[in-house]
Amino acid sequence: MAKKIVSDLDLKGKRVLIRVDFNVPMKDGVIQDDTRIRAALPTIEYVLNHGGKAIVFSHLGRIKTEEDLAKNDLKPVSVHLEELLGKHVTFINATRGKELEDAIANLKDGDILMFQNTRYEDLDGKKESKNDSELGAYWASLGDVFINDAFGTAHRAHASNVGIASNIKESAAGFLLEKEIKYIGGAVENPEHPYVAILGGAKVSDKIAVIEELIKKADKILIGGGMRYTFLKAQGYNIGQSLCEDDKLDLARELLAKANGKIILPGDAVCAKEFADVPGVVKDKTEFDNDDNGLDIGPKSLELFQKELEGAKTVVWNGPMGVCEFKNYEKGTLGVCEAIAHLKGANTIVGGGDSVAAVEKLGYVDKFTHVSTGGGACLEFLEGKTLPGIACIQDK
Ligand code: 3PG
Repeated sequence: MAKKIVSDLDLKGKRVLIRVDFNVPMKDGVIQDDTRIRAALPTIEYVLNHGGKAIVFSHLGRIKTEEDLAKNDLKPVSVHLEELLGKHVTFINATRGKELEDAIANLKDGDILMFQNTRYEDLDGKKESKNDSELGAYWASLGDVFINDAFGTAHRAHASNVGIASNIKESAAGFLLEKEIKYIGGAVENPEHPYVAILGGAKVSDKIAVIEELIKKADKILIGGGMRYTFLKAQGYNIGQSLCEDDKLDLARELLAKANGKIILPGDAVCAKEFADVPGVVKDKTEFDNDDNGLDIGPKSLELFQKELEGAKTVVWNGPMGVCEFKNYEKGTLGVCEAIAHLKGANTIVGGGDSVAAVEKLGYVDKFTHVSTGGGACLEFLEGKTLPGIACIQDK
């Protein structure tokens, strides 16, 4: 059943609670990447342009001790939001209480307020993260309607999403959440074939559930990154010192058997004698020495992946092909990105920090059908799981 969307609601004069995911990378109070903030602008602007009183909130980082508070202050994010909107954003340095309630009461139609990091509530018995019923009901009482636009947090059942949604009369998805559901949900439920998935990253253990799901849904699963070596070792190859989860070898064999030829493991790799950003040597998977570290896919692997991608109608990519934070080992990841970006007539979806960073680095954001703002949420969605932050929104 389709979910209600912000544009289905009458917002004029209403106090509109908007849960966004502004959990952005920060260094010394400076935002390192504002993609998630920009991605929420269409919903916020829509609410403001339709006479709503916008009350915006998010978590930032994880709060376990008093020391975590200052590091995860949302004030710099509210200042940046103000710049992006070109409009004053009142920031309330509290997650509850009179100052917040008075500021909301004083909002005029088209005004916007942002309050402090919802996880500040975690210092007191993890109220936000454990979806404390009093907290969810309290936040719900501050608004008339609830818009969830925090796709990045949709795999969490917290007070600021599920808690509010279950205590308020009307709820809807924001435009970002709608887009994520349309593209990732579409690939999960009804992908156009041929459907090719490309997975990378360090560990098989992070991707087991998604591989299981893809074996059912996709036509080909191309595997690169550190996780490839667990599969290669499971097939009996000498992988030298490459990354390997020895306790997952049986599982890798089971997945390979279940996949019945759908899993494609590339042949060559760029190797070094140490795990460092030093120039490497291209080797076939049959040629590894005991002291080799496979740090990227090689040129033949890239060619193979390009060939497998030809004619694909749905492509989902999650995870880097090598140690892409090393300049010497970023070619595989950038090459895969390039190959997907130039496909014609395919629905192309990318998720996960390193893959999305490659898309941004090459300036290909517009060449992908959808660049997901979710990390864990994107993976769990691809695993076919019901995400609580989506399930809690009212149906149309
Ligand atoms: C994310 O960045 O994946 C989301 O914002 C969720 O953050 P969390 O893993 O700390 O819950």
